[in-house]
Amino acid sequence: MSIGNRIQTFEDVRQLARGYLPWMVFDYIDGAAGEGVGERVNRETIRALRLQPRVLNNVENRDLKVSIFGQEVGMPFGICPMGMCNLSRPGADVMLARLSAKQGIPHGVSTAASTSLERMNEMAEGNAWFQLYFSGNQEASFALVERAIAADYKTLILTVDVPEVGHRPRELRRGFRAPFKIGPSQFLDFTLHPRWSLGTLFNGAPELANFSGDQATFDRHASRAGADWSLLERLRGAWKGNFVVKGVLDVEDATRLRAAGVDGIIVSSHGGRQLDSVHPPILALRAIRDALGNAYPLFYDSGIRSGEDIVKAYAMGASYVFVGRAWLFAMAAGGEAGLARMVEIMEKQVSITLAQMGLSSMLDIPALR
Ligand SMILES: Cc1cc2nc3c(=O)[nH]c(=O)nc-3n(C[C@H](O)[C@H](O)[C@H](O)COP(=O)(O)O)c2cc1C
Repeated sequence: MSIGNRIQTFEDVRQLARGYLPWMVFDYIDGAAGEGVGERVNRETIRALRLQPRVLNNVENRDLKVSIFGQEVGMPFGICPMGMCNLSRPGADVMLARLSAKQGIPHGVSTAASTSLERMNEMAEGNAWFQLYFSGNQEASFALVERAIAADYKTLILTVDVPEVGHRPRELRRGFRAPFKIGPSQFLDFTLHPRWSLGTLFNGAPELANFSGDQATFDRHASRAGADWSLLERLRGAWKGNFVVKGVLDVEDATRLRAAGVDGIIVSSHGGRQLDSVHPPILALRAIRDALGNAYPLFYDSGIRSGEDIVKAYAMGASYVFVGRAWLFAMAAGGEAGLARMVEIMEKQVSITLAQMGLSSMLDIPALR
């Protein structure tokens, strides 16, 4: 069966990825905080949202374009920042950057990317957004901001929902850590997944490319608990471009961020990877949109698995939607062709969903309450 036929849904790429990836890597990507309840409840909440079909509206010409910060983007969904993407497939970071360039969509480049932030923005042809994890080492964090400015990034994402890395039992049980430490169980895991292991061996294990050479190192588990509103103020002052804060779930926080000069907010539960008992972020999105009014740039990620989910997030108040795990699984499933296929499916699903709803434009999606 061709890859085109095999890949029809998120679950298809997830299952193909499960066969290709070592258990340790699959659990790193697929895993969530605690028992995975927060992640599951959000997905069930999204699934339970109902859309209203309308008929006889002539929806022959449907326009999926939307604008972010006054600039038109090619598709209504983009790429979440994700660390160590090359674990899903050698060269994954660059595949995502090429996708971003080709489609003209934003691509979050993680502090913990496997390719340097300079190369990523070059490959994404200026569509990349740099995502900053503020570490306890303030000097190193501001040095990264300076590098992003020099590399001509127009948008900075400050991720604020990781004061401490969430407790993620699935990756911990597998002994996941960066760089890898290979004990007997990892050795067995790699041996049983030879396609991944040989590819990774041949291309070299993914590194934290923004921290190579003699610059400060990145510790994934370092505490960022010291970050506060004064830090936000300083970073806002240092960044002249669009300043976006990611990982916000509270109306009061969102209101204060807007007042502090933040240009856009990503409502997100980090894909359920931080707090198991978290409220479904899709509901927080509705509450925050209602509080901030229609004009404010409010973005959404977490639990998006299909084009219908994307339309639902717009209906809940998003001005743009980001997708995470789906892209990593698609690349594990079929490399760049798998990624292109998953994108094609999601885009088609968005378009079909609009047609069912009697809509010709993303901008006409009615609010869901
Ligand atoms: C493997 C993996 C790595 C991630 N790394 C980062 C990161 O470095 N920075 C960040 O802000 N968010 C990171 N996230 C969170 C995503 O940006 C996003 O919030 C989440 O994946 C969205 O949920 P979804 O995967 O259900 O689409 C990561 C998520 C995954 C799955």
